[in-house]
Amino acid sequence: MSPSPPGPAPADRPAPPIHLRPAREADVPAIVPLLLRLKRLNEEFDPLLKVREDAEERARESVRAHLADPKAVVLVAEGTGAEREKVVGFVRALVRERPFYAPALEGVITDIYLLPLYRRRGVGEYLLSEVSSALKGKGAGLVTAEFPAQNEIAVRFYAKRGFRPVTSIHARPL
Ligand SMILES: CC(C)(COP(=O)(O)OP(=O)(O)OC[C@H]1O[C@@H](n2cnc3c(N)ncnc32)[C@H](O)[C@@H]1OP(=O)(O)O)[C@@H](O)C(=O)NCCC(=O)NCCS
Repeated sequence: MSPSPPGPAPADRPAPPIHLRPAREADVPAIVPLLLRLKRLNEEFDPLLKVREDAEERARESVRAHLADPKAVVLVAEGTGAEREKVVGFVRALVRERPFYAPALEGVITDIYLLPLYRRRGVGEYLLSEVSSALKGKGAGLVTAEFPAQNEIAVRFYAKRGFRPVTSIHARPL
């Protein structure tokens, strides 16, 4: 993986250099707070996504399970310079079978998060392209993204990269 994000950044906002690499077990304590930040952000967008009190424990379990799953991809973005070796973002995804449709395997991006200082400089696009390549390498013929419909950041980010809605989950409280 190349050490910094490709693509031009606006002249007044140079791309903050990041280093992207596959996550390992030792990264769990750094990934969990970022995953929780993402879930709390989603709660701000939609009260139906209220974060549970035991979310931290669940996050730890779920990240660990992903790291041990050969069908999953977890990448971490590390800062450089003063933030060298600090995890400033991550993306995780999973190859899943589509029993009725072709292509039979899709790569589902379930979480993508960058600390605010690193946003809107093309780093997200870099994470997206690298995770897509990794998913393709695991046999996925399609890349999809699952995110809350009310999360405007996600809606705009993915729409800008050519993603369009395929299925929707609608909910009402019981
Ligand atoms: C989603 C995220 C990883 C994208 O990373 P990024 O480095 O900001 O993305 P890029 O610089 O490659 O692309 C920027 C585009 O993303 C969208 N975007 C990013 N931040 C946005 C914001 N605050 N409001 C609206 N759109 C936003 C826009 O389409 C933006 O393009 P623009 O700057 O021309 O308007 C990052 O913004 C983030 O961590 N957001 C919070 C977490 C989140 O919502 N994750 C998605 C749900 S799973």
